[in-house]
Amino acid sequence: MTRLLIWGTGGQAEKILAQFPHDTHEITAFVDSDPARRGLFHGLPVLGPAAAARLTVGQDYDQLAVASVFLGEIRQQAVALGIPAERIISAASLHFLNAAHLLTAAQLAELAGVPWWYHGYEILPGVVTPGACGYKPWLLSHPLVANLTGQRALDIGAWDGPYTLEMSRRGALVTALDIQPPTHSGFAAMCRVNHLPVRHICANVYDLNPAEHGTFDLVTFFGVYYHLKNPLAALSNINAVLKPGGLVLVEGAVLEGAPMLDGFWAGRADVIEALRDIPMGYFVKGEYEGEWSNWWVPNLTCLCHWLESSGFEVLERGLVEGGARGLCVARKVQALAPEHTVLPPA
Ligand SMILES: C[S@@+](CC[C@H](N)C(=O)[O-])C[C@H]1O[C@@H](n2cnc3c(N)ncnc32)[C@H](O)[C@@H]1O
Repeated sequence: MTRLLIWGTGGQAEKILAQFPHDTHEITAFVDSDPARRGLFHGLPVLGPAAAARLTVGQDYDQLAVASVFLGEIRQQAVALGIPAERIISAASLHFLNAAHLLTAAQLAELAGVPWWYHGYEILPGVVTPGACGYKPWLLSHPLVANLTGQRALDIGAWDGPYTLEMSRRGALVTALDIQPPTHSGFAAMCRVNHLPVRHICANVYDLNPAEHGTFDLVTFFGVYYHLKNPLAALSNINAVLKPGGLVLVEGAVLEGAPMLDGFWAGRADVIEALRDIPMGYFVKGEYEGEWSNWWVPNLTCLCHWLESSGFEVLERGLVEGGARGLCVARKVQALAPEHTVLPPA
């Protein structure tokens, strides 16, 4: 039986407890640097870092599992307190123990080394990552993307890479673009365990351009536009990197879902329904759904107008997730002209 100290008493610790490998591990105590969290957690003592450092490794516990996105910082703090580095593991390593029989030691080490997973998806056959955001198969269910053999695809906002992986499995040569470095997420580990030669561009979608990044047959733009203050600039760049006739798949928050998700809109579904054929974008100062980085929430009609004014023909539009979000499949039909008439020189 391996005895664990778990550093963290938040959501990640709760997740570990929900799938705890009781057959092989037991928890002796928790650690939290926040004095307000001392006391008991799930019936076990919560120690401060200094008290944890006074315990004897091998006698009081065998390993320290870090249940926090700040794995790197906590590891440094623990080592500075005298806890041997080789005894410190990530919470993810406990999660992947359940699938250890499906992984090589090298794969287990790769996956366990990721400090925090956003996506929960099947990264290898039978091995599912511990993120809260599940893989959404309907995002890639359009018949036009069923077989991507030989196509060049760009996955904007790839994060841990579930859609990059799926498009690769369908035969595409995928490039990922995200504002977050691939080593801060599970993306780099996903590529290594799958031996995927994926190019990752760590950049802002506002800087996407064909001269630097090339051109593509398909762009996926899932869960990103509402995080932008200027989603139309992003659509304009997507138009520029798509080959003529190329496809863009766009998914995200739409106003139709607001009564389910946002306090201000709760009970106002009738207002949204009455105006649903009028293209309307709701702009808030990053407060939609209580999330600081949610800016623009268009209704589905508005999302289509954004696409149509960005050089696309919308082939299919629809609400997904019980009406909470919108999904559009669109084809590039023209390059973008200047937004205003340019007068000839006098
Ligand atoms: C809500 S997640 C969506 C992840 C994934 N596409 C999905 O649908 O599950 C938003 C992703 O977009 C990335 N992102 C946000 N703003 C961006 C920007 N301006 N340029 C590039 N990526 C951005 C984030 O880092 C994150 O990976």
